[in-house]
Amino acid sequence: MTIFRKCIYLFLIFEPIFCANNKFPDDFLFGVASSAYQIEGGYDSRGKTTFDHHWELNSSMVSDSSNAKIACDSYHQYQKDIELLSYLGVDFYRFSISWARILPNGFPNKINPDGIRYYNALIDGLLAKNIQPMVTMFHFDLPKPLQDLGGWTNPIIADLFEEYARILFKNFGDRVKYWITINSNTWGYGDSDWPPMVDQSGFGDYLAIKNTILGHAKVYHLAKGEFREQEAQIGFVVDGRWYEPGSESTQDRDAAERARDFNVGLWLNPIYGSGDFPQIVKERVKLTSEKEGFAKSRLPQFTADEIKFVKNSFDFLGVNIYTSFLVKDVDEQNDKEFSWDKDVKAGVYQDVKWEGAKSDWLKVTPWGVRKILSWIKQKYDNPPIFITENGFSDAGEIEDLERVNFMKLYLKALLEAIDRDGVNVKGYAAWSLLDNFEWLVGYTEKFGLYHVDFADPGRRRTPKTSSKWYKKLIERRQLDETIPSDTYKTEL
Ligand SMILES: *[C@@H]1O[C@H](CO)[C@@H](O)[C@H](O)[C@H]1NC(C)=O
Repeated sequence: MTIFRKCIYLFLIFEPIFCANNKFPDDFLFGVASSAYQIEGGYDSRGKTTFDHHWELNSSMVSDSSNAKIACDSYHQYQKDIELLSYLGVDFYRFSISWARILPNGFPNKINPDGIRYYNALIDGLLAKNIQPMVTMFHFDLPKPLQDLGGWTNPIIADLFEEYARILFKNFGDRVKYWITINSNTWGYGDSDWPPMVDQSGFGDYLAIKNTILGHAKVYHLAKGEFREQEAQIGFVVDGRWYEPGSESTQDRDAAERARDFNVGLWLNPIYGSGDFPQIVKERVKLTSEKEGFAKSRLPQFTADEIKFVKNSFDFLGVNIYTSFLVKDVDEQNDKEFSWDKDVKAGVYQDVKWEGAKSDWLKVTPWGVRKILSWIKQKYDNPPIFITENGFSDAGEIEDLERVNFMKLYLKALLEAIDRDGVNVKGYAAWSLLDNFEWLVGYTEKFGLYHVDFADPGRRRTPKTSSKWYKKLIERRQLDETIPSDTYKTEL
C-alpha cells in the first residue's frame, strides 16, 4: 500500500471523529461586532469625520441620502445594546472607538471628557455582564482636520495615531485586554467613490497603506513598552477575501496570486511576514513605474529600520470574511497613466450563478473560508486568528433564515479550517449586532442579528430569528446537525 493510500484510509477513519460532532474547541470565543460610526449617532457630541464632511458636500453620495447622525442611537442606548449582548451570551463584543469623539479635532491636545465617560460606561457595563471588550481604535472614521493634512497619506498620521492610542491605553487599558489598531482600508485614496475621494490610484493608496502599517506598529510597540503592564493583546484586521483562479491556466493562477498579494498580502506581509511588501507587488510596481517614466517605483519603500519595527508587531490577526472572487489574467489597463489596477494586472469577477445577498458584492461562497485561512496559515506561519467579521445582508427581514443558513455554512467551513487544516482560529464575531448605517448604501442593506426601527425615535430593537439561533449555538458551542448544504447552489 502506498503512503498516499494509507493517508486516504486514515482520513476516512478519522474524518468523522474530527468533524462529525460539529463542536467548537472548548476555549473558542464567540462574539458580535460593530463600528462606532455605523451605530452610535450622538453626532453633536463628537468632532466631524471625513465621511460627515463629504456627505455635507453631496448627500447623494449615500444611495438613500441618509446619514449617521442618529444611526442606532447607541451613544444614548448602549445599555440596551449590553442587554442584547448579554441575552446572546457572547464571550466578547467587538466595537470601535470614535477618534473624533475622544479627540474632536483629531489632535491629542484636547480630550472630550464626555467621550471618555461614554466608553468607560460601555466597557464597565460589558464587564459587569462578563463580556470581554475587543476594541478597534480606527474603523473608517478619520477626524476631518486630519484629512485636511492628507489623512493616511501624510506620514505624520502614524505619530498622531500613536498619541490617540496612548490616550486610549491610559483611560481604558486597565480593563481592555484585546485591542485592534486598525480595520484596514485605503478606500478613498485610490478612488473617487469613498470619502476622502482622493482619486490617486497607484500612488495615494500605497502611501496610505504604508503609513497605516507604521501607525499600527507604533501602537503595538507602545503597548509592549510604556503600557506593558497592561498585558494587552494587539491585532490588526484585514479584509480576507479569497481570489480563486478563473481557470487552471498558469496565467490565471499567477493572476490570482497577484490579486491575493495586492489585496491581502500588501497588509499582511509587512506585519505578519517578512516586514516588507510582498515580492510580487514590489516587482510589478517597479516594472510599471519604469515603463511610465518614473525614476523609481511608485510603491514606497520600507527602510531597514522600519522593516525591523513592523515585522511581527502583533499578538493576533483579525480576518473579516464575507466573499470570494474569480480572477483572470488581463492586459495592463491603460485607461489611466498609472493605477493600482494596472499594477495588479488581474481581472476580478464573480460567477453570475453564485447566490447573493442584498449587497451586490456579497456572494455566498463558504468554500472560500478554508482557502483564505489556509493561505494565511501557510504564508504567515499560522498566526492566532480571530474572525472579526462575518455576515449576510438582506432587506431587514425578522425571519432571516437566509442569514442563519449563511452563518451555518460559513461556521461549518470554519470548523473544517480548524479541524482539518489546523488553522489557529481563536474566535468568531458575527457582523453585526444591529442593523446599522451601511456607509454608501445607507439603510438599504441590513446585516443585524437585531432589527432596528429607524422610523422610531426610540430606535426600537427587535430580535431576528438569527439572534435566537446564534444564542443557541453559543450555548451549545456546536453547530446544528443539519447543515443546509443545498440551500445555496454556490459551488466552485
Ligand atoms: C453627488 O453624488 C452623486 C452620486 O455619487 C453623483 O452622481 C453626483 O454627480 C454628485 N453631485 C455633485 C454635485 O458632485
